[in-house]
Amino acid sequence: MREKLLILEEEAIKRIENTKDLKELQEVRVHYLGKKGSLTEVLRGMGRLSPEERPVIGQLANQIRDRLEEKLALKEKELEEKELNQRLALESIDISLPGRRPPRGALHPLTRIIQEIEEIFVGMGFTIAEGPEVELDYYNFEALNLPKDHPARDMQDSFYITEEMLLRTHTSPVQVRTMQAMEGRVPVKVICPGVVYRRDTDDATHSHMFTQVEGLVVDEGIRMSDLKGILLNFARRMFGEETSIRLRPSFFPFTEPSAEVDVTCSSCHGTGCRVCKQTGWLEILGSGMVHPNVLEMSGYDPTRYTGFAFGMGVERIAMLKYGVDDIRHFYTNDLRFIGQFARL
Ligand code: PHE
Repeated sequence: MREKLLILEEEAIKRIENTKDLKELQEVRVHYLGKKGSLTEVLRGMGRLSPEERPVIGQLANQIRDRLEEKLALKEKELEEKELNQRLALESIDISLPGRRPPRGALHPLTRIIQEIEEIFVGMGFTIAEGPEVELDYYNFEALNLPKDHPARDMQDSFYITEEMLLRTHTSPVQVRTMQAMEGRVPVKVICPGVVYRRDTDDATHSHMFTQVEGLVVDEGIRMSDLKGILLNFARRMFGEETSIRLRPSFFPFTEPSAEVDVTCSSCHGTGCRVCKQTGWLEILGSGMVHPNVLEMSGYDPTRYTGFAFGMGVERIAMLKYGVDDIRHFYTNDLRFIGQFARL
């Protein structure tokens, strides 16, 4: 009996030592110490022992049970620790992984073009002026030699707010505001960037809201050749040194004479292509010598002072420069479009 118990202990200790996980350990416990376990089985046979032997074997069996319990507890602790470590390793956060970068914004292509235009003109001694987008009829039309019944008002379909107030249809009212603020002093030499509104149906080349940059120079002895020189310099800085310009006669009520200005096509350099409709030229702005009535209404004596003015469409310049085929791209905020300008 004693032999049997010692063999059982030895065998049990070996199995405890070899268990791989807590579940298996529990099985080992039940196998030896459970109600139907091997040790219990042996003890059950104690009835057949002599009365002298019984307490000795009983004591040994108790000792073996205690030792096995102790071994089981130790092994349990060890396995628990092992499993915890495994779980920690599995769930650990890899702090060496780079973080997610918040997307970086970039300047809108129109903002970039406006800044470029401003830089070029500031380099030629211009300052920058701004005016309101909600404008008085007086500044938008009347002071620009367009009285109430003037047919040329139809050239620019307008959004009226009241009888006397509208969304400005061009940046030319800033010319008037600038001259009034200068109170007859010279030289006046400003550019005025800003948004304008017209009642146009939106399509690939028209937008009811778009951006212009106005230019105005007033001083003694300002001539058409000054206008031409300034604009040629601008066109070369904007589209490349090989660019030429040409002036075509035109009409604006606030300039006399008036001219539309073309630049050589930046796509084909003048040989003719789809972009310039085979003409080799692209229209970029309207211009002219400030009409004497306009000078006079804003406090400049037209017998002493002359000036020139021009107004260009920023979207058109951006479209030509970047090869954009639809003006609506600038206003629909599709990041696939705008994002392309981030790294230019
Ligand atoms: N204001 C004109 C337009 O919007 C452009 C222009 C400006 C023409 C200044 C001549 C002089 O079409």
